[in-house]
Amino acid sequence: MESLQKKKRNSLISDSSIPSHIAIVMDGNGRWALKRNRPRSMGHKAGLNALRVVIERCGNLGVRELTVFAFSSENWNRPEQEVSRLMDLFMRALDRETRELDENNVRIRFIGDVGALSTALQKKIQRAQTQTANNTRMILNVAANYGGRWDIVQATKKLVEDCSRGLIRPGDINEEMLAKQICLNGSSDPDLLIRTGGEMRISNFLLWQSAYTELHFTPTLWPDFGPESLDEAIAAYQSRERRFGLTSEQVDKSNRIFRQSASGPSA
Ligand code: FPP
Repeated sequence: MESLQKKKRNSLISDSSIPSHIAIVMDGNGRWALKRNRPRSMGHKAGLNALRVVIERCGNLGVRELTVFAFSSENWNRPEQEVSRLMDLFMRALDRETRELDENNVRIRFIGDVGALSTALQKKIQRAQTQTANNTRMILNVAANYGGRWDIVQATKKLVEDCSRGLIRPGDINEEMLAKQICLNGSSDPDLLIRTGGEMRISNFLLWQSAYTELHFTPTLWPDFGPESLDEAIAAYQSRERRFGLTSEQVDKSNRIFRQSASGPSA
């Protein structure tokens, strides 16, 4: 990866508020391929190339965590051939990309009901996660057989089990307890969620985690989404005011206090 300074030059974005965690719904692979009279699986292959470029750009900008929707629980209903080609692509991607991710100090983690994937794929996932477990530059979370509702249900089941074992009482359950059981617990919630391909919905991605996430929708099809598109999304994010339920005045005031304390005690 190139040096941070070099990569940021001529960029639309400011260094001061790079989103720490970006989530992406990588939509539009199929349409990208059909426009070229190619099979949909070619679109997914091109989508993997786009992902490679975006990971690199995120790493260079100092994004700490990137979560991508690679395969939803609903994607099993696609034509059998497309599902099987996608699974092959995941296998090959894990074989080819893990070393490079590792060399670039990127940790890879999978979220979702991975137990339903083939044993061979599960083994590769396990190996990639173990190999990169101590990497610290950036975390790449790949959502595979993931659904936001599934995530909330699996977290709820764990709390119910704790209740039935007498470890907690139902009346004591709060958001913090549920958040501890949800996928990506221990990570900050995504600051920015990008969806490519023109649709303006979340489609069952990170429902719990994106309560206060800024959303960015672009008509660009995922395989065409390059570093400039990422910069545009981050610039749009930087133009937003994140209020987390507060008023604009309250946000202004707390930003002023934060800036004063960051610049140290005044003389
Ligand atoms: C949605 O586009 C895309 C997917 C269901 C698959 C995305 C997967 C990749 C980009 C490969 C990533 C690989 C790894 C290992 C992380 P679509 O098919 O719904 O496109 P359409 O809306 O144009 O039909």
